[in-house]
Amino acid sequence: MIGKARFITFEGGEGAGKSTQIRLLADWLRKQGATVCLTREPGGSPGAELIRDLLLKGDVDRWLPISEALMLAAARADHVERTIRPALSRGEWVLCDRFYDSSIAYQGAGRGVGVERVKEIQTIAFGKMQPDLTFILDLPVEVGLSRALEREGAKSDMEDRFERMDRKFHESLRQAFLGIAKQEPVRCILLDADKDIDSLQGEILHALEHRYLKS
Ligand code: TMP
Repeated sequence: MIGKARFITFEGGEGAGKSTQIRLLADWLRKQGATVCLTREPGGSPGAELIRDLLLKGDVDRWLPISEALMLAAARADHVERTIRPALSRGEWVLCDRFYDSSIAYQGAGRGVGVERVKEIQTIAFGKMQPDLTFILDLPVEVGLSRALEREGAKSDMEDRFERMDRKFHESLRQAFLGIAKQEPVRCILLDADKDIDSLQGEILHALEHRYLKS
């Protein structure tokens, strides 16, 4: 039986398969009778989608790392207030493709802003807002980047500024996500994403049922 609505996020490096898995989970929850708000970051509200375009398109060094962190926090504040909180208060399950942890990994670690600084910025922007559960999809960097490259043909709008950053950057993201999973083992479930779509979906559903849907 479907329980109380939850806020669930999916995190990981490039090409980990988050978007596919989150869509499959949304379909599954709807079949169980849940109302689902499927959303993403950066974006998820009209204002935040405008900021997404600024962040993801253009040259790799288009923005200073600190400017990126501030823009992401501005987008997230809008998304939290205008999409996530209202959906949760209507009793909807909120599934979000990336959230707070992506800023810790990408801007805090990868772009060198510093984890504590990114946390401070986010607290100023929207207070403390934690997902109930976070799936972290882990993948070796070279596997993720080659998957992301294959996907490139399907993208029409060149949303790949971060994908084009160097290998060291992507390796530091992976380590940062692994660190978050280790530090917060109750909120985070770390999954090996180097497997086929159905097997990974099976693990996600198993974890969810185990945690929330037993009674
Ligand atoms: P995606 O929709 O393909 O995951 O692309 C979003 C990109 O934005 C991805 O490269 C990660 C990046 N990003 C950050 O750098 N910081 C953040 O806080 C978020 C949410 C995303």
